[in-house]
Amino acid sequence: MEAMGVLMTYPMSSYLEQQLQNRFTLFRLWNLPNKTHFFNHNAHNIQAVVGSTHIGADPELIDSLPALEIVSSFSVGLDKVDLAYCKEKGIRVTNTPDVLTDDVADTAIGLILATLRRICEDDRFVRSGLWKKDEFKLSVKFSGKKVGILGLGRIGTAIAKRAESFNCSISYHSRSEKPESKYKYYPSVIKLASNCDILVVACALTEQTRHIINREVIDALGPKGVLVNIGRGAHVDERELVSALVEGRLAGAGLDVFEHEPQVPEELFGLDNVVVLPHVASSTVETEMAMADLVVGNLEAHFLKKPLLTPVV
Ligand code: DGY
Repeated sequence: MEAMGVLMTYPMSSYLEQQLQNRFTLFRLWNLPNKTHFFNHNAHNIQAVVGSTHIGADPELIDSLPALEIVSSFSVGLDKVDLAYCKEKGIRVTNTPDVLTDDVADTAIGLILATLRRICEDDRFVRSGLWKKDEFKLSVKFSGKKVGILGLGRIGTAIAKRAESFNCSISYHSRSEKPESKYKYYPSVIKLASNCDILVVACALTEQTRHIINREVIDALGPKGVLVNIGRGAHVDERELVSALVEGRLAGAGLDVFEHEPQVPEELFGLDNVVVLPHVASSTVETEMAMADLVVGNLEAHFLKKPLLTPVV
């Protein structure tokens, strides 16, 4: 298998890099002095792409790799991989579901608590010495609130279970109603937003869900509402989010993801009611290793002509 060429698109995990290097001929798509030279010399020797949430596999990359057989993404979300194009060209695609569900759901709850209970703001208050001179602001209770979840897949369901243990009532919107679910279904995201205190975005990014959190939805959530996003930045119309937060039309936001990562709208930095993370919902030591093992396991299975562990295409 050592002769198999694997191209990593981004420096996503040193453990993953090491595992790939131990087994395959590893190529890296970053810090290249001359991309054209790189592709001219190596493209025919690359059978696999390992993509990330930043750089996946678009038609341009796919077309520049004539020997490409498989794209193994170091993520559960596949919005950076052109699935239809891969299918058309007979290229297999895998992702890393399940192993990151708990961490992403934990992060969603962490963001809810940090935002409502002013955890980051109060931390800054203490560190800056203000405790001795000033009053801290009261925060807002989480227990018993109405939590609306957009997307009741594996991660959405794990968030719902955690929120239930805070005595929250749970409702959701997704592409279709899930008859087996005990949670209340709303047929539109506006209806969901109008009927919850905290709206959590946990769905996949597709053309249908791009900017699904628009001005109307934000206004339906209202001035006491909080938005939490552990999905993708492009689910939210960021300009509308920023103006709602600045104008007080939304109480707060807890955000792990942004539309143009690592760019974050600068206006957010001045707002105490916003908690911002650098897309780290699944980034624990344990989960990073489990995701890397899945990526490698899928590649090994493919090259040994065995069934893929987590096939998507
Ligand atoms: C993924 O793996 O798609 C997510 O971004 C984890 O947070």
